[in-house]
Amino acid sequence: MRTDTEQTIYLKDYAPTPYRIVSVDLDFRILEEATRVRAQLTIEPRDDTAPGTPLVLNGDGLKLETIAIDGLPLVLSAYAADADSLTVVEPPNRRFVLDTEVMLQPEANTKLMGLYRSSGTWCTQCEPEGFRRITYYLDRPDVLAPFKVRITAPLAVAPVLLSNGNLIDKGDAGDGLHFALWEDPFPKPAYLFALVAGDLGSITDSFTTQSGRKVDLAIYCTHGKENECHYAMDSLKRSMAWDERRFGREYDLDVFNIVAVSDFNFGAMENKGLNIFNDKLVFAEPNTVTDANYHSIERVIAHEYFHNWTGNRITCRDWFQLCLKEGLTVYRDQEFTSDERSRPVQRIHDVQNLRSSQFPEDGGPLAHPPRPDSFREINNFYTTTVYEKGAEIVRMLATLLGEAGFRKGMDLYFERHDGEATTIEAFLKVFEDATGTDLRQFGIWYLQAGTPQITVSDSYDAASQTYSLTLTQKVEPTPGQPDKQPLLIPVRFGLVGPNGSEMSWSGVSGGTVKDDLILLDQPSVTLRFTGIANKPIPSLFRGFSAPVKVSSSLSQSDLLFLAGHDSDPFNRWDALQTVLTNLIAGAAQGRPRADSDLDGLRQAIVDTLENPELDEAFKANVIAIPGESSIGRHIGKDVDPDAVAKARHDLLVALVKPIEARLEAMYRSLETSAAYSPDAKQAGERSLRTGLLNLLVAGAGRSDLAEAQYNAATNMTDRYAAMALAARHWTGNAQALLGDFRTRFAGDPLVFDKWLTASAQASDDGVIERMRATLAAPDFPKTNPNRLRSLLGSFVMTNPSQFARADGAGFRFITEAVAEIDKVNPQVASRVLTGFRVLPTLEAGRRESGKAALEALKSQHQLSRNVGEILDRILGA
Ligand code: ARG
Ligand code: ZN
Repeated sequence: MRTDTEQTIYLKDYAPTPYRIVSVDLDFRILEEATRVRAQLTIEPRDDTAPGTPLVLNGDGLKLETIAIDGLPLVLSAYAADADSLTVVEPPNRRFVLDTEVMLQPEANTKLMGLYRSSGTWCTQCEPEGFRRITYYLDRPDVLAPFKVRITAPLAVAPVLLSNGNLIDKGDAGDGLHFALWEDPFPKPAYLFALVAGDLGSITDSFTTQSGRKVDLAIYCTHGKENECHYAMDSLKRSMAWDERRFGREYDLDVFNIVAVSDFNFGAMENKGLNIFNDKLVFAEPNTVTDANYHSIERVIAHEYFHNWTGNRITCRDWFQLCLKEGLTVYRDQEFTSDERSRPVQRIHDVQNLRSSQFPEDGGPLAHPPRPDSFREINNFYTTTVYEKGAEIVRMLATLLGEAGFRKGMDLYFERHDGEATTIEAFLKVFEDATGTDLRQFGIWYLQAGTPQITVSDSYDAASQTYSLTLTQKVEPTPGQPDKQPLLIPVRFGLVGPNGSEMSWSGVSGGTVKDDLILLDQPSVTLRFTGIANKPIPSLFRGFSAPVKVSSSLSQSDLLFLAGHDSDPFNRWDALQTVLTNLIAGAAQGRPRADSDLDGLRQAIVDTLENPELDEAFKANVIAIPGESSIGRHIGKDVDPDAVAKARHDLLVALVKPIEARLEAMYRSLETSAAYSPDAKQAGERSLRTGLLNLLVAGAGRSDLAEAQYNAATNMTDRYAAMALAARHWTGNAQALLGDFRTRFAGDPLVFDKWLTASAQASDDGVIERMRATLAAPDFPKTNPNRLRSLLGSFVMTNPSQFARADGAGFRFITEAVAEIDKVNPQVASRVLTGFRVLPTLEAGRRESGKAALEALKSQHQLSRNVGEILDRILGA
């Protein structure tokens, strides 16, 4: 059953609008009961527009109150208005001003798109299609105009009035009202519009740009939270300096404002000069947020700031090009974090994230190219493929062109396209023109879905001192793309000799090799290296030089050798992860394991832990045992999550038991009385300590250590880690720790999210009933995306054995919750539903019960376009 439209939008149908919007004047009159929006749009036909062509503006749930052109009210026959569009039948064949008024009910807007109210504050979210919920408009990214915004509101409830650009006037408006007038000189698409009105506290600072202009910075938040905004401010200033240093990009307005709100559909939004943030990505204070939170705040503050050039100054022609701004900006924020912290550790972090969220998307029913060519609901395409795979594509480009070539291309991009709404083709073209490289084959990365699978085989001929290496690429079919073309894949590599050092070669034939880079551009390439004195071990895809899966022919002992000797830290880490994954996956599929396998692995882990040259954060990553989901994905099909969980647990026990005392000693040696600092060094030490605790709890049942750490903790990082571990393993003291945590931090919604997440990850069979009770509690805030995602999102994405329980209870719990949430907030509902993308990997019984839950959702409920589209794609409809 569905009432919403199922219309599909195609990239091939793109055409510019017949009318341009020359300028925009908005007048918001905000009152408690309702908000009146008056829009005066200066519009003109394009040169080639036939006289009399109707003007069709987008709307969404609007009600037109008045309409006039050049001051004259329109007669009824001159226009047609409904909730979703406004048509002016025969507009003047010259420049004119269209003047409309609508009334909005922000209080009733639970979708959190358009103008809504969050904890008393009026705020907006317009990307991608929220502006049409504010006024009738050509709501698409290729319509750019300068905006002037007048806001009038009651002084008592909304002393702070903000919009994009510069404040040009403010004052009293009588009757207890006041006003502010904002002007943004930079033409922008409507999705970058923002408005905030409320009673907010703030912190201020300033930044002087490289050319000497002073920019006023402010972060606004709920009163009382000001002191928790300093880390965000510091991150902002570091981001501004970095973008000047690394890309020569200077900020362009006199003010830069950030506002933290509690109800927000995703992380944050790069509105011109007025970024709006989910408050969880602003507030930082050691007792209530973790090191990981600090890390995310720094990253997202940087991400939104970087959008000012990659997204705002140069925007997207249409939403199919979303990756143009998101992939590129994620690449930029990853680079920023790498420069600010440890590059290898950041790379491991980003790859773990890619593998755990993007690979499953790309290998399942929701797979789509980074640049899709059709969609029903664009909100469903703000995906990890567009963002994170998009960043990997930019990273490969930088690898192929080298640092200098990449920078030349970026400079040309900014020079050539500033002020435009452009495309991915235009982006690739600047690199071709700047460096003289043909990127036609490389461009396929944007158009083709699926993770390439690389098969490696090699042989060594001692007599001729020749080493042969064969690399084969293959991409499995994905929805709508049965046949795949070969990609251009940069393979950064080295040949590691028997003593652990790099081997050089006197010649190479059979393919393209430039220094330490193989260009794999055929379905299969065999390279012959000559002048090789001993059989080398190949270290391939160093630094994860391409987003691919590799099945290598390396034995466990070769992998362990790389883990100990590779000069590339990423591959050292990856080699051990591969060994662990192979062992657990093998056991889950009934392959027996030899004791000697474990001895070597255990020794490699101990060697890493005891190596004084490696930093703590790196070691923490090495001992992070691949999770159940990741093992399940490695197995790929007919997965029984219970068998995976058991195999993983058994391995941990066998691995840890013999070295329990040593691990405990290391764990204790990392205890510190130093005052908390979120810096990378301290955070690395804490994460290593947590990693050791994880081994001890999971492999040796040491819940006593978790409890002791929980009680002794002097910061949230240590306290949360201890509780979360106990909860996940559902140790005897888990319930007590969860209970203590809940009361200790009662009244702090962002800490409640942590409790919800930890609760949702419990591995015991009682978890679903407890979650049902949590959700059904009368005071559970069912309109808040953070709360819902913490509980339901964590469950579907990180509790695979309970979500995919054999009796189907996990699936039903989620589809029932989705049906209910969909009525309130379709974006949150459809996001939660994407967890069902694992179905094709599961064994038949679970697959069927998952499908049954989805079929019931489809037949019994009226669903939003958001949820309807995801549901149909997962069901393969
Ligand atoms: N442009 C924002 C960012 O990545 C996110 C907007 C997300 N919008 C959405 N509908 N999911 O920085
Ligand atoms: Zn972004």
